[in-house]
Amino acid sequence: MAKREHWGSKFGFVLAASGSAIGLGNIWKFPYIAGENGGAAFIFVYLICIAIVGLPVVVAEILMGRTTQRNPVGAFRKLSGSKFWTAIGGLGVLAGFIILSFYTVIAGWSLGYMIEALQGNFSALGTAEQASNHFNSLVGDPTWMIGFYTIFFVFTMAVVFLGVKNGIEKASKIMMPVLFVILIILMIKGISLKGSGEGLAFLWKPDWAKITRQSVLIALGHAFFTLSLGMGALMTYGSYLNKKTNIPKAAMQIVFLDTLIAIMAGVAIFTAVFATGQDPAGGPGLIFNTLTVVFGGMTGGYVFGLLFFVLLTVAALTSSISLLEVVVAYFVDERRWSRHRAVLVLGSLVFLFGIPSALSFNLLANVTYNGMTFFDIADFIASNVLLPLGGLLIAIFVAWIWGFDKALIELKHGAENVFKDRSWLVGIFKVFLKYIAPVMIFIVFLHSVGLLESAIEQVKNYWIIIILVIVVLVIIISRNRKKK
Ligand code: PHE
Repeated sequence: MAKREHWGSKFGFVLAASGSAIGLGNIWKFPYIAGENGGAAFIFVYLICIAIVGLPVVVAEILMGRTTQRNPVGAFRKLSGSKFWTAIGGLGVLAGFIILSFYTVIAGWSLGYMIEALQGNFSALGTAEQASNHFNSLVGDPTWMIGFYTIFFVFTMAVVFLGVKNGIEKASKIMMPVLFVILIILMIKGISLKGSGEGLAFLWKPDWAKITRQSVLIALGHAFFTLSLGMGALMTYGSYLNKKTNIPKAAMQIVFLDTLIAIMAGVAIFTAVFATGQDPAGGPGLIFNTLTVVFGGMTGGYVFGLLFFVLLTVAALTSSISLLEVVVAYFVDERRWSRHRAVLVLGSLVFLFGIPSALSFNLLANVTYNGMTFFDIADFIASNVLLPLGGLLIAIFVAWIWGFDKALIELKHGAENVFKDRSWLVGIFKVFLKYIAPVMIFIVFLHSVGLLESAIEQVKNYWIIIILVIVVLVIIISRNRKKK
């Protein structure tokens, strides 16, 4: 078998993995859910979730990848030898397939808006209503939608086609600094606007009364999505690492950068939104509807609007490539396909599968199941079911099935300094990975299922419960088998 490709440098890995983490989740989703859930208090809860659940699972995923040098399916197979766990890896690959199919639809909007900005179309949008009409007419046009979806998809395939070092790593090394610089410019512009103070207060002054059970669960669910957790993206990237990399340190850097960018995006967006008297709780349309009005009305709005949508597109691209890479790595490792063939065949399949999602805003807008369009269903299944389930099982797998102590031996490669004379650190990591993370994720998962409850009739609820019981039973059985 051909030798496995590796990252050119540790820095390259951290940039690529941060590129995967930083995406639409940070710049599109985080600001609007923070806006809808009251701002500062929500952000506080989100930060706690990132630290106590996100970080341990990031370490666990990267470690599984590096130890096995395999895609998620191969990684679970190699460490467990059990069919059940191998299938869990397969669920990750499936999640990658599904997320990629609808993620690229929003990325297509972003690319299309970049062109809108270039044409100077925002200056004509004086009110939020005009902006939302404009938005609806764009996404309501199937040609516009499919066109930009296709272009974005081709970019994604091109990068992965070029390989780990020459494609993903190189692209991340160019795009991540660009992203950072653009965001800093936008943040300074936002803060310099008259009346921006209110936006900052919205982000920093917590209103604790706004914290509800629901918002805690949303925060935890988002922690997963934003860190690219639960489907093996970081595992796959970790599989291109060698034993010299300090995983705890790299994980901290990735988590830190992801959080930093989300907060910076929040500052850039809310200062502008408040300075122009817009509604911070604008929902998913916040950046497409609200921000275009903001750009339309501000001095230099042409340039800043353009920069913003370049930023969004770049961020989406470094994430979409990681999604495709998971699927490609599976076919390369397990089915012995060449990378090029895997990219062309699987890329095309995901593309076709995504078309109904792209048409969910126009031709297929009325084709719904329990009020959800094809897009909504794909998003729901992947983000609310597959990711939390995957995250839960990865934490359980590393802590209990592979076994914390064995995992720790692997983790110490490259990280001798981190753990030297710091046995308390091992203790903390153990408690978080073994108990806190699984329990918290389980709660989110039940919540996701609860949302499902309201959407789907009674009978199907029992199926979820049955599946959960089966999962737990199989875990118990496979543990006992291993002990023998
Ligand atoms: N983390 C990405 C974002 O925030 C989305 C993503 C999820 C990417 C899962 C890969 C895997 O936009």
